[in-house]
Amino acid sequence: MDWDTLAHCVADCTQCNLHGGRTQTVFGVGSRAADWMIIGEAPGAEEDAQGEPFVGRAGQLLNAMLQAIGLRREQVYIANILKCRPPKNRDPLPEEAQQCWPYLKRQIELVAPKVILALGRIAAQNLLLTDQAIGRLRGRIHTHAESGIPMVVTYHPAYLLRTPSEKRKAWEDLRLARRAMEQACS
Ligand code: URA
Repeated sequence: MDWDTLAHCVADCTQCNLHGGRTQTVFGVGSRAADWMIIGEAPGAEEDAQGEPFVGRAGQLLNAMLQAIGLRREQVYIANILKCRPPKNRDPLPEEAQQCWPYLKRQIELVAPKVILALGRIAAQNLLLTDQAIGRLRGRIHTHAESGIPMVVTYHPAYLLRTPSEKRKAWEDLRLARRAMEQACS
């Protein structure tokens, strides 16, 4: 499936109940030839309204995190585990994540990034097919099994807004991700 077909499939998707509550789907944004792919959890209210991932407060922090490793938002590709907003921003259900996965899988194939950065527990656990705590998943370079792409896990920017004392660890994760990128390019 090419980008246009995929985008149309997502826009028309009614596979799970979330379609009933959405304003619009939130497909993904950024460079389709990016070396970096950033994967979050699911759209929130702002993203549902604007149709773009990470445009709220967490998005502003994400932009600053990217800037800290020398990246502009336009240089990376940003997507979520879910394309539709869960009601009251609850966690995605396993079956919702499962039904939405083929879309993200194809986005990963099409972008073919050199590194994936997973933001938060939901993204990390779904991509790595594990229920390990984020504290155990961050701080090392994984391989995303389905794509073979190196992957680093860090805290979700919304969590960092609530818990700024963890920003230091997120900064370490970002530097680790940059090292993973350097390794992938060498
Ligand atoms: N949180 C996410 O995980 N994704 C978004 O797009 C916005 C907030």
